[in-house]
Amino acid sequence: MSLEVVILAAGQGTRMCSALPKVLHPVAGDSMLGHVIHSARKLNPQRIHVVIGHGADIVREQFVADDLNFVLQDKQLGTGHAVAQALPYLTAENVLILYGDVPLIEVNTLQRLLKKVTPDQLGLLTVTLADATGYGRIVRDSKHRVLAIVEHKDATEAQRSITEGNTGILAVPGKRLADWLGRLSNNNVQGEYYLTDVIAMAVDDGLVVATEQPLDAMEVQGANDRKQLAELERHYQLREGRRLMALGVTLRDPARFDVRGEVTAGRDVVIDVNVVLEGRVIIEDNVNIGPNCVIKNSTLRKGSVIKANSHIDGAVLGEGSDVGPFARLRPGSVLEARVHVGNFVELKNAHLSEGAKVGHLTYLGDAQVGARTNIGAGTITCNYDGVNKHKTLIGEDVFIGSNNSLVAPVDIFSGATTAAGSTITQNVPADQLAVGRARQRNIDGWKRPVKIKKD
Ligand code: UD1
Ligand code: CA
Repeated sequence: MSLEVVILAAGQGTRMCSALPKVLHPVAGDSMLGHVIHSARKLNPQRIHVVIGHGADIVREQFVADDLNFVLQDKQLGTGHAVAQALPYLTAENVLILYGDVPLIEVNTLQRLLKKVTPDQLGLLTVTLADATGYGRIVRDSKHRVLAIVEHKDATEAQRSITEGNTGILAVPGKRLADWLGRLSNNNVQGEYYLTDVIAMAVDDGLVVATEQPLDAMEVQGANDRKQLAELERHYQLREGRRLMALGVTLRDPARFDVRGEVTAGRDVVIDVNVVLEGRVIIEDNVNIGPNCVIKNSTLRKGSVIKANSHIDGAVLGEGSDVGPFARLRPGSVLEARVHVGNFVELKNAHLSEGAKVGHLTYLGDAQVGARTNIGAGTITCNYDGVNKHKTLIGEDVFIGSNNSLVAPVDIFSGATTAAGSTITQNVPADQLAVGRARQRNIDGWKRPVKIKKD
């Protein structure tokens, strides 16, 4: 059955107290609407229609894509009115309604709901809550068949005691929708065109309303303020934590762990507290990540170790390599197997071959370092002349003394050694020693200045 999705995202979100449209507020590093679009795409719909209103231009700009159709709802006259704005574009047999501020909905739940839809039946996602205040209530007959949804504000005392609430998420046969939406009225307490009135119309037309419930009520929780946003965030993180633990990851504390992207992990991985993983992070078996690390768009091969307070972005860590504490790997850092990068080392666009060591206080940018080469403490590549970037090429088994300035472009061939404190401005041939510093002079009879006491 063909499917289209309509995502309602026109509301203002006054209680966010923000210049940013509500649906752009982030959960786990992606906007709420981004999460909903991501889940909707997994259902392979023909098209996704996003109804926008408040901050329409800002929202539209964030999500340019061929499968997205943005529909403007000028005035927010109710959820039924919102869906009606998408009607001219709808052609599929099934239409699924989602919400831009309900980001944690699971694809599995939506698939279960979609299975309920036939030309004679629609699927309604409901949730049973201890306190359903604010929710539309599901009114059923004595045979438990759904008859209608009554909005909280329109409900009688008896109806308000119903604990089954409307999540708003709904899958309907597309052909019927135009007729039903055309018949909506705003004759209710809020003076809005309620999407929920479609349910009673469907029942009148002889359709069956089949219900499903999410496995977890947080899936259908929206965020209207920052407190609710934080609750969704923590729930998302605990869910990600559980998923990774199930794969064989030890999280020292799942409450102090954040994923803002897509993470894959192997077995016997250990992640200490306050680690943030962003973008696409691939973690292989036996990786160990110390506390307070930020790791973004990186691949950590088997057995690699990242010590505390390191920042890793766009890097590949080879098997058995170790990095940190306090290391910063910027995009284009590639460490082959068993490379050692110690504290206060910054790498950018630097390829370090197997067994290379950069122990302390070093900057390597636009550099290649051969196997087993050792870079002394305090070394920097002078890779930038103010206009252009230049490469530093260092061969195998090179020994760079401490506190060197390697002025690029420069080649230091295999087996070469540079003396401590050298400024290397010329290529160093293989196996030679380069000394690039002023010769030391010792001045005999020199007098140190003395302080004259004033009293
Ligand atoms: C709606 C449901 C209610 C349900 C509840 C679940 C209706 C009439 N009521 O109520 O049964 O229990 O959600 O949270 O549908 N929106 C638009 N344009 C509009 C109006 C709303 O895009 O003109 C969007 C809002 O931005 C929001 C969503 O639709 O994301 C829901 O609207 P809201 O006004 O919050 O509906 P509720 O009163 O919560
Ligand atoms: Ca709401």
